[in-house]
Amino acid sequence: MAKNPSLLSAADRTCPPRLSLVVSGGIAAYKVPQLCRELRVRGFDLRVVATQNALRFVAKEALAQASGAAVACDLFSHDQDCEDMAHIRLARWGQCVLVVPATANFLARLAHGLCDDLGTALFAALEQHVPVFAAPAMNPQMWQNPANVANVAVLQKRGVELLGPCVGRTACNEVGTGRMLEPLELAERMEAFRAHARMFVGQSVLITAAATREAIDPVRFLSNRSSGKQGFALARAFAASGAEVLLVAGASSVPAPVSPRITTVVAESAEAMARACRSACLDKGRGAPFAVAVCAAAVADFRARHPYGSKPSKRDAACTLALEETPDILRELSTMEQGIRPRLVVGFAAETEAVASASLASKQRTKKRAKGCDWLIANDVSDGKVFGGEVNRIQLLDETGKMEVWDVMTKELLARRIVVRTAQWLQRQNKRQDEQQSRLRATTSA
Ligand code: CTP
Repeated sequence: MAKNPSLLSAADRTCPPRLSLVVSGGIAAYKVPQLCRELRVRGFDLRVVATQNALRFVAKEALAQASGAAVACDLFSHDQDCEDMAHIRLARWGQCVLVVPATANFLARLAHGLCDDLGTALFAALEQHVPVFAAPAMNPQMWQNPANVANVAVLQKRGVELLGPCVGRTACNEVGTGRMLEPLELAERMEAFRAHARMFVGQSVLITAAATREAIDPVRFLSNRSSGKQGFALARAFAASGAEVLLVAGASSVPAPVSPRITTVVAESAEAMARACRSACLDKGRGAPFAVAVCAAAVADFRARHPYGSKPSKRDAACTLALEETPDILRELSTMEQGIRPRLVVGFAAETEAVASASLASKQRTKKRAKGCDWLIANDVSDGKVFGGEVNRIQLLDETGKMEVWDVMTKELLARRIVVRTAQWLQRQNKRQDEQQSRLRATTSA
C-alpha cells in the first residue's frame, strides 16, 4: 500500500504564528481585545489593522494593549508606528489573516477587490497561498441578503474560510444566524488551524454526507431528517487541513461547503452515491487510495422495488409499497481490495439509544463487525437531537475495539477532532510500515 509521504510528523509541522487581524466596523469589534488576549495565550504574534469605522466601536489603545503591537489604521500614515507602504509590509508579515468582525460592507469590498483603505489594501497585496479567515457578524437579515450571500460565495470560492456566524441574539436584539463566534471559540479555531493546517497536504479524502432520497415516483421519495451539517463540517475540516476532498452529497437543508479543495458530487439516491464512491476509489488507481473515507451520509436502507414512472393518483397507487435494500456503501468501501480500499474507513451510525449507554455500545460493536469498517462513530439522533442542530455528541469505536465517549461539542469542532484523530492513525500506520520495510531490508541484506 502506498505510504503517505506528505503526512507531516508533529515536529515537521510548521506553525503559522504570525496572524494579522483586520478589524472592521461592527459592534462585535469590542470583543477583539479579548480575542487578542486568547490568541496571545496560544502563542500567536499579532498585528492589528482597524478600519476607521472599527474605531467607533473599540479604542485603538485597547487593541494595541491587547495585541501587544501598534495598531495600523491609515493607508497613508507616516507616523513612527506605521511605516510607509503599511499594506505591503503587513501583507508580507502575516502568515494568516483573520477579519474580525467581518461586516457585510467589508465582505462586499473584499469580494469586489476594493482597496481604498488599509484593511482592504492588505488583501489586495496578499500572496495567494496565505490563508484568510473571516468571522462575520451582522443582523440575520443582512446575513441572508442576496448580495451578501453572493459576496460570501465569491470569497469562499477564493478560499476564504468562514468562522461562523452562529445562531443567536445579535446586537440589534434579533435572533437568527449572524452572531459572531465568541472570542474563545475563534481563538480555538485559529489554534486548531495552526496545528492542523498541513496535516493532510497531498492527501485525498472521501466523504459522504446528507440524506439520500429514494424515488417512489417522480414526485415522492423515501428519505430522512439528516441536514448534512456534520458531513459538510467534516469536508470543511479535512480541506482546512490541506486534503483534497471529494464530497459525495445527498439532499441537504444547508448549503454544501465551497472551497477550492472540495469537489462536490451530488448523488441523490443510495445507488447514485454508491456508484460515485465506487468509481472515485477505482479512478484513483491501485496503490493510491483515499487516505480516509468517512461515510457520514444518512443513507436510506430501503427503496421502492418498482418506482412508478409517472405520478399515480390515490386511486391507482397500491397501499402497500414493495421495498428492497439499497447498496451498503460503507460495507462496500470497507471490503474493497487492498490498494483500492481507502486506508481508513469510518462509519457514522445514527442511533436512537443514549450515548454512553450499554445498549448503544453493544449495537455499535455488532454494526462495526457487520460493516467491516475501521472505526464506527455513533450518535443519538432521537427526539430531534443532532439532525439539523449545531452540536453533536458521539462515541467512537476504533480498530482495536476501544470505545471512547466524547463530550458534547459543535459539529465543526467535532469534525476537526476527527481530522486530528485520523491524521494520528495515519502517522502510526506510516511508522509501522517504515519499520516493517526496514526489517525486511535488514533480513534481505543479511
Ligand atoms: N450506510 C451506508 N449505506 C447504507 C446504509 C448505511 O453507507 N445503505 C452507512 C452510513 O453512512 C453510516 C453507517 O453505514 O456511516 C451506519 O448507518 P446506519 O444507518 O446507522 O446503519 P444501517 O446499515 O442502516 O443499519 P441499521 O439500519 O440496522 O441500524
